[in-house]
Amino acid sequence: MILVTGGTGLVGSHLLYHLSLENDTIRAIYRTKSSLEKVKKVFSFYTDDETFFSKIEWFQADITQVPSMIPAFMNVKQVYHCAAFISFNPKDYREMRKVNIYGTAIIVNLSIDAKIDKLCFVSSIAAVGDTQKGNIIDEENEWNKELDNSGYSITKFGAEMEVWRASQEGVEVVIVNPGVILGSGFWNAGSGKLFSQVHNVFAYYTEGKTGFVSVKDVVKPMILLMNSTVKNERFILVSENKSFKEIFFFIADAFGKKRPSNKIEPWQTAIFWRVAWVFSKLTGKEPLLSKYSAKSAHAISEYSSEKVKKTIDFTFEKVEESIKTICENYPKV
Ligand SMILES: NC(=O)c1ccc[n+]([C@@H]2O[C@H](COP(=O)([O-])OP(=O)(O)OC[C@H]3O[C@@H](n4cnc5c(N)ncnc54)[C@H](OP(=O)(O)O)[C@@H]3O)[C@@H](O)[C@H]2O)c1
Repeated sequence: MILVTGGTGLVGSHLLYHLSLENDTIRAIYRTKSSLEKVKKVFSFYTDDETFFSKIEWFQADITQVPSMIPAFMNVKQVYHCAAFISFNPKDYREMRKVNIYGTAIIVNLSIDAKIDKLCFVSSIAAVGDTQKGNIIDEENEWNKELDNSGYSITKFGAEMEVWRASQEGVEVVIVNPGVILGSGFWNAGSGKLFSQVHNVFAYYTEGKTGFVSVKDVVKPMILLMNSTVKNERFILVSENKSFKEIFFFIADAFGKKRPSNKIEPWQTAIFWRVAWVFSKLTGKEPLLSKYSAKSAHAISEYSSEKVKKTIDFTFEKVEESIKTICENYPKV
């Protein structure tokens, strides 16, 4: 039996669809019934045949609650751990530590107890760390705890440490470190917002650069790695390194909308996140921009996926092509 955590999220839902092509049953956990509709919606981008969705055995569980997770591990041989809390708001740091580090420790402990064959953990390029030398970052890049790392990066790095512990205790593991994941279905969260903003004719762009990858090119290597003899390795999953400007332009072109035309300079975001911080303190509302989101909008980081390409002979789709397909799935109004 395969168990998927985070199956109601962007990565997990697309993963469940791809797993349903090759397996009769897959077990997945969920927290609220309403989130299952989001998964159904993602399946509808691929097929009208509901038999694929019906292959999922849903268990209500929270990864931070051991008793709720124990039954989910019955007869499990492979675990895909995609659940996480993603936030760049400093006020979420404590909760992120709980879900991302403590939650992963629970998945690891239950995997060891259940003597599963293999665990796939979805980490992030955020956990690979920055390079101060301007080099292209690969899996060997050393995490530097002295740098001004975001809370999200720290918790994903901490979660990886838990997963390496599983490898020491006899569970085979693979870790994937995707760049910014682009995919259909979650238009108001994470990278989905890039699509909704440009669709609503967002006029601004920054020239920060990072690694991008389509969700299909995240879940396919995950399955290939899990079904291979590869073990106890991490793999960066990035199709191409692009600037936010290029990504916004690709999306605008695919929607047939006006390209954003106003470049935002680092000093402007530096003022904006501070004003947003003060405003959020006064109102108790989420800041519109956090320090780390502002930083990543301008940071220039380039990543290499040569390792995964060579190890499983994988070819990534060009980001512009992925964006065209995603824009076709965007709700028509
Ligand atoms: N999106 C990206 O650009 C990106 C890039 C690199 C790496 N990643 C990594 O990829 C993984 C999946 O990200 P995503 O984009 O799919 O995130 P997402 O859409 O926000 O989904 C997060 C998933 O985790 C679940 N979850 C959160 N807290 C949980 C808890 N306490 N117990 C059980 N489930 C919980 C959520 O369940 P609910 O539906 O109940 O909230 C949801 O299914 C994460 O590990 C993330 O760090 C994402």
